Amino acid sequence: MLFRTFAVMERILLIGSGGREHALAKALVASTSCEKLWAAPGNPGIEREAECVKVNVADHEAVAKFCLKNDVSLVVIGPEGPLAEGLADFLRDENIDVFGPSQAAAQLETSKGFSKDFMLKHHIPTAPFRRFSPKERAAALDHVRIHVLPVVIKYDGLAAGKGVVVATTRDEALIAVNDMFDGAFGNDGIVIEGFLTGEEASVFAICDGRDFVVLAPAQDHKRIGDGDTGKNTGGMGAYAPAAIVSADIMATVRTRIIKPVLDGMREEGSPFVGCLFVGLMIDGDEVHVVEFNARFGDPETQAVMSVLDADVAALFASAARGAIDAATIRKVAMGFACNVVLASKGYPEDYEKGLPIAGIDEAEADPHVTVYHAGTTRTGDSVVTNGGRVLGVTATADTLKNAVARAYDACAKISYASKVNRTDIAARAL
Ligand code: AMP
Ligand code: GLY
Repeated sequence: MLFRTFAVMERILLIGSGGREHALAKALVASTSCEKLWAAPGNPGIEREAECVKVNVADHEAVAKFCLKNDVSLVVIGPEGPLAEGLADFLRDENIDVFGPSQAAAQLETSKGFSKDFMLKHHIPTAPFRRFSPKERAAALDHVRIHVLPVVIKYDGLAAGKGVVVATTRDEALIAVNDMFDGAFGNDGIVIEGFLTGEEASVFAICDGRDFVVLAPAQDHKRIGDGDTGKNTGGMGAYAPAAIVSADIMATVRTRIIKPVLDGMREEGSPFVGCLFVGLMIDGDEVHVVEFNARFGDPETQAVMSVLDADVAALFASAARGAIDAATIRKVAMGFACNVVLASKGYPEDYEKGLPIAGIDEAEADPHVTVYHAGTTRTGDSVVTNGGRVLGVTATADTLKNAVARAYDACAKISYASKVNRTDIAARAL
């Protein structure tokens, strides 16, 4: 008898509309195992890779209906919002395979308190902390009055990356605590934790609930200004692989962090299926978890996917089906990638929208450059700005230095009235 192995051809629906999803779309559509890719809602960049559809992502029934009607074999959920709302649970109940954690497993991101309690219980290295319920304002204020400075104050729930204050003075700390209890982000409690020193890095683990594979480590640049100054943002640029995550550090991350997370979540009845984002603080050979996210990072994904040589569709599908196939990855890092975010002047506060963008084609004339769309929209024939982070200009090369130079050359070709960007992405690594 003759045996043949048939690759399953995936019909994939990708949920999301940012630069991260544009990078995922590009990687999915380039996969041998991808037959068809839709994106809901997508964006003008994702349009080049996928058929963008107007399914209301908040309407879980509508998403399920779309999947059943179009024979979708896999749903990939990009952002945390739909995970927090239980989209993955709803679809799984309809027997649709999903790459993305359940609402309960997503608590690793959606509740800082859950995540810190979980780490304490499972002996995962993280900063010492105390958790305060919405009724414990007085106790929280007392705690920051005696806590060593700097002290870190975190809103317990989702806060679009704005719910963390690193207070260097007693007054700042008291104000932050009061703001959070006054409802700056909602009605959840807070976490107060010790300040960690070192350098940050992001590791993404593709998880099937039990096993995992890690992708190239990346480093984001969270502050708006050069030299890591000014306000915290969603991320102003990233590069991969990040040498700060040495082989030894990665081994520690696997055994002391990712493995215990997967074991612990399974023990607690919420196996983690999807991308576990491990936000690290690295100080010499000491590693601590700063945060977990239940999804890929943005903009790190633009860099990580650019160096990954894999059948990403088959990788995500195997994880979604509970039997991750590491052989879908040929190489985790082919060379280096650098991503520079082009933002809108004023971001992360108020900024103007609707400004026409020129030069994307010119920037992409270099075959090693991809301009990922993060906050853009189409008006008539032109693409205009529509967000704080507008584009993610990403270049690959054999060395990090060349990737950085290529990315900045490409950035110079793009123009719009409110364009701002950091000029020092990866500078520390160089
Ligand atoms: P998070 O949302 O928890 O990742 O926090 C946002 C940012 O605040 C991190 O990327 C760090 O730069 C900083 N941060 C959070 N927690 C700590 C900590 N314990 N020590 C030092 N910096 C922190
Ligand atoms: N770049 C950080 C994040 O995606 O949360």
